[in-house]
Amino acid sequence: MEEAVVTNELTKVYANGVQALKKVSLSIRRGELFTLLGPNGAGKTTFLRIISTQLMPTSGEAFVFGYNVVDEPERVRKRIAVVPQDAATYGILTPWEYAYFFARLRDMSSEKAKVAAERALKAVGLWRFRNRPCSTLSGGERKRAIIASALASEADIFMLDEPTSGLDAVARRAVWAVLREMVKEGKTILLTTHIMEEAEMVSDRLAIINKGEVVKVGSPEEIKKMRKERFRVVINGEFMVDSNFDFVKLGDRLIVYTKNEDEALSLVKKVLKSGGRAETAPITLEDVFVKLVGGYNENS
Ligand SMILES: Nc1ncnc2c1ncn2[C@@H]1O[C@H](COP(=O)(O)OP(=O)(O)OP(=O)(O)O)[C@@H](O)[C@H]1O
Ligand SMILES: [Mg+2]
Repeated sequence: MEEAVVTNELTKVYANGVQALKKVSLSIRRGELFTLLGPNGAGKTTFLRIISTQLMPTSGEAFVFGYNVVDEPERVRKRIAVVPQDAATYGILTPWEYAYFFARLRDMSSEKAKVAAERALKAVGLWRFRNRPCSTLSGGERKRAIIASALASEADIFMLDEPTSGLDAVARRAVWAVLREMVKEGKTILLTTHIMEEAEMVSDRLAIINKGEVVKVGSPEEIKKMRKERFRVVINGEFMVDSNFDFVKLGDRLIVYTKNEDEALSLVKKVLKSGGRAETAPITLEDVFVKLVGGYNENS
């Protein structure tokens, strides 16, 4: 089978009536890094908890490597490694114990577990802290110990719920590097994030999810192409923009979207001539995301 995860109209209504997932149908291919990108409350954790057999769906189906998550949870659990969003460490355990014992729990031999633990701890940059109790580590370091324990397990699919939240830029990039390395080795990765740059940098494909619904699925490039404008110009200070342009006002700043680079450069020139400041760059995933998902609306 080509797919690692398949869901058919997966729906979750919590006991309090919140519709966290509304008929979500997704398929995640083997060997790809797939990201669920969505704002707070979109349903990312709910999706992950259902397909990792921790939460029952209300209706619809979900399969991991062909196994139904409701009917065959044991088979699913053998193939997955999960980093939950709210994972906390036990203070007395060390990163080494985390990585090593998690590998051992997976029936790995002691020798193999040692190799896997060393590799995982080096990958997340915790090797030199491996024998310090987690209670003496910073928040980001603890998070990395949890990621290392998942990496050491050698599962076929890794499900990571916002693994880089709370990490600094360097640590975040180190995690991205590990994830891409794992993809190179043929692993499947399902990631959730609300960080656009992360989704754009690491994903093979991503699904934009909002209010429990999938808004769009595709590679970062495919999703970016959904906006007809290819460039944006950021203008500082007052400037009257031609009404043909799509633009967003951020206080005393203006983001103007243009069809192409020529149009962007001529706009920059105009602004500079009028004494203002402006710069241009190709659009990012964020520009498309904001257009698709829209702004805050407390009434919706
Ligand atoms: N145990 C629960 N009981 C009732 N409602 C819940 C429960 N867990 C989550 N929700 C609600 O379900 C919706 C989806 O929550 P979920 O945690 O899946 O979002 P998320 O995309 O992971 O958000 P975040 O980025 O903040 O982690 C939200 O409206 C949330 O308030
Ligand atoms: Mg979440």
